[in-house]
Amino acid sequence: MAKTETISLLAELQNLNAPQLRRLLVEHLTKQKLGLYWESNAIARDAALNANVVLPRVVPEFSHTPEGTTHHRNLVIEGDNFDSLRLLRATHAGKIRVIYIDPPYNTGNKDWVYNDKFVGANDRWRHSQWLEFLYQRLVLARELLTSDGVILVSINDENRSRLELLMDEVFPGRRVGSMVWRTKDSTSRTDTNFSEVHEHILIYGGVGFAFNGAPKSQKKYKNPDNDPRGPWNIDPLTVNADRFERSGFFYPLNNPVTGVWYPCDPDRVWAYASESRIKNLDRIRTGSMESWIQQEKIVFPVGERVVCWETHEELLAAIRAGDVPRTPKRQRPLLTADTPDLNFWIGRQVGFGRPGFKKHWEELNSHVNPVSSWIPRATEGEDEDEAVIGAPQAGEGTEAIQAIFGTRAFQYPKPPTLIANLLRQATKPNDTILDFFAGSGTTGQAVLELNAEDDGNRRFILCSSTEATAKEPDKNLCRDVCAERLRRVMAGYGGKPGYSVAQGGEFAYLQLDKIEAADVAFEATPDHATTLISMQNTAVAPVEYAQAAIQVIAKSGDWLTVICHAATPEALDALAALPAQHGLARLAVFCPRPKALAALLAERGVEANTYSIADALLKGQVRGGQGASA
Ligand SMILES: C[S@@+](CC[C@H](N)C(=O)[O-])C[C@H]1O[C@@H](n2cnc3c(N)ncnc32)[C@H](O)[C@@H]1O
Repeated sequence: MAKTETISLLAELQNLNAPQLRRLLVEHLTKQKLGLYWESNAIARDAALNANVVLPRVVPEFSHTPEGTTHHRNLVIEGDNFDSLRLLRATHAGKIRVIYIDPPYNTGNKDWVYNDKFVGANDRWRHSQWLEFLYQRLVLARELLTSDGVILVSINDENRSRLELLMDEVFPGRRVGSMVWRTKDSTSRTDTNFSEVHEHILIYGGVGFAFNGAPKSQKKYKNPDNDPRGPWNIDPLTVNADRFERSGFFYPLNNPVTGVWYPCDPDRVWAYASESRIKNLDRIRTGSMESWIQQEKIVFPVGERVVCWETHEELLAAIRAGDVPRTPKRQRPLLTADTPDLNFWIGRQVGFGRPGFKKHWEELNSHVNPVSSWIPRATEGEDEDEAVIGAPQAGEGTEAIQAIFGTRAFQYPKPPTLIANLLRQATKPNDTILDFFAGSGTTGQAVLELNAEDDGNRRFILCSSTEATAKEPDKNLCRDVCAERLRRVMAGYGGKPGYSVAQGGEFAYLQLDKIEAADVAFEATPDHATTLISMQNTAVAPVEYAQAAIQVIAKSGDWLTVICHAATPEALDALAALPAQHGLARLAVFCPRPKALAALLAERGVEANTYSIADALLKGQVRGGQGASA
């Protein structure tokens, strides 16, 4: 702690009396808990955390509105994401199924701002500030997720452990796991001769979240014997337990048709017990070997070598020569001089092949392969039993930016292929995907790609800062890189086709105004009201504020939702005409004075539910940014 801070803390403590000091000590001692601790009380409060009301405004000139756009399903929100998330809490709580973020990694290379200052490597509070910064945003983001939603977070190796503990704190019990991907081939670190070439993606999902996986291949399942139960494959008939752990499962197995006997592997015994060995048959929950044989589920080898050792000496000679049945892969002998009851194998037909279990395609627990936590290079071979995500080199991100802008307009973007591959696994075709550290907008591009691939209706919400600083006051990363990239991608560039409105080739660009709650009724504009109420009721943004007395926001079921900015005679006429025009019986009207409007409409014989615009603007915008929980 800096000296001045220590002095002021001591001065504060001087003013406390003995009981107050005792209470403080008890609080301090009992507050300790398992998990992450960061010095949230010692660091200066983040000036970005404010409690005023955030109101959105569509900026048509920065939006992408090709012909045919009736409303905007995709949103690009400019500003500090603490504000963007507060807005979304008022409009999208419980509506987002997938969040992907790639936050600043706190590398010490001035890659993020706290209290309007870049945080450098020597900042005493660097880690606490970073944790507090992320904590405040993650807590807001948590409210946006659907109950089966998921958040995927990219992080480097150095900060992974801290972030993972923070995620555990914000999403307790929701950890799905983490993925690792190789970002580059090597680095030039010679001090430790340790080349850091990987990053992590942390995954926290709600109840019911599952990756899509990949359909299992049916290639290995055949039906050479026309089994009416359908195609099948041979599974091992052994389990991972030795003869001491499961003595009842270690016995010679007999093919009742040929009379041939098969020795049991002492290190991997049979999967099913024999009725001849187990007294209490009710204890065999998985079914006995005899019952499986009867059901023709055990496949005995055909055309294999079969021998018969007539004497003990013959058997021992075969054991010495290694000429006995062996395990298929490692070729371990299944009969040795130590095999219990060795004489059993004298004078019997002994098979050299291995029996297997007939696994039918229809009885598999799942026809989907799970996603692997290891993300290999896209060029590496696919594992047959796992859905592999696959990533290109990190350089693909920079190349994508270069191809779109002709320059390196953004440092360290993520590779679009990696994000598309992740979202292909994490999303369903109608999901809304949020990235609140959107940077250059890679996530938006990935969403467009996926929709084009499967005719999906995924929509994106990207929050990006301007990155303006005192040195570069006019910088606007959100407008000039993120939104501009999407505009170019949607229009088509470098010979690549663009995306139609039906494919999601549009977005609203939102700027945010912050107003004290007490001033909302006076300072909020019709533009704010139209945008916010539209987002609240329909999760879409209007193309622009129509500058008209009334604006229809949504039709749903029997209802028409309308905003009436002022109850002028023209507005009342227009409202009265709406039910007939739209063939709908009910009106929900947002207006400045709901009671008065309801009475005026009733005089004209129009029944309507009326709501206060000011109330709608304040809805969900409770005080944000309380101190951290640590
Ligand atoms: C690692 S980059 C994300 C890059 C992105 N995944 C891409 O592919 O372009 C992190 C981004 O977070 C932005 N950022 C940092 N603090 C922010 C804040 N408080 N609000 C919004 N964005 C912020 C930075 O400007 C930076 O662009």
